[in-house]
Amino acid sequence: MSMDMIHVYKPGADPKAPVLVLLHGTGGNEHDLLGLGELISPESAVLSVRGNVLENGMPRFFRRLAEGVFDEQDLVFRTGELKAFLDAAAAEYGLDRENMVAVGYSNGANIAASLIFHEQESFRGAVLHHPMVPRRGVQLPELNGMPVFIGAGINDRICTKEETEELRSQLSGAGAEVEVHWEDHGHQLTRTEAEAAAHWFRREFQENG
Ligand code: MLT
Repeated sequence: MSMDMIHVYKPGADPKAPVLVLLHGTGGNEHDLLGLGELISPESAVLSVRGNVLENGMPRFFRRLAEGVFDEQDLVFRTGELKAFLDAAAAEYGLDRENMVAVGYSNGANIAASLIFHEQESFRGAVLHHPMVPRRGVQLPELNGMPVFIGAGINDRICTKEETEELRSQLSGAGAEVEVHWEDHGHQLTRTEAEAAAHWFRREFQENG
């Protein structure tokens, strides 16, 4: 039993709708992405988690050695921690563990991507706003058509175009169905990107039942 991550749980109006797992960016918290979740799938249950690491008082999901340089050992440990939390939360709240869709921004998108890279049972799908390649040199599990939305900025200096393309090809190579949405901006999560994610989500998870 591992429920030792601060979180918000909000039951959903539609028990069949995917459970959204909301994962904030550096310096954020479990309240930041509730509005985004509401926009993406208002009828979904929501599990919004706060990262357990602090960097100068700013919550994160794993340590980094410098901007863009991850502490790999901590990343792997924290990925397992989040996985254990999701498994325990599914049992605690009576949620379908196989029907969870990650929605992460920046550091939160990176831990979601790391879970997808490392674990066979990660998510049904993922919305990754400005993710990086979480780790190199690992064999990804078979992703069996997992739908993944990547929101990226052509001027994003933290998650560059090249790195976005590298992540897309890693995920596609493992069998995911990846859609990349480009914004003419930097690292910020814009309204139009959030709306594109909501549109994609409806297409992937609602219209086909
Ligand atoms: C990270 O450390 O995960 C990335 O640099 C994104 C961020 O700044 O959170």
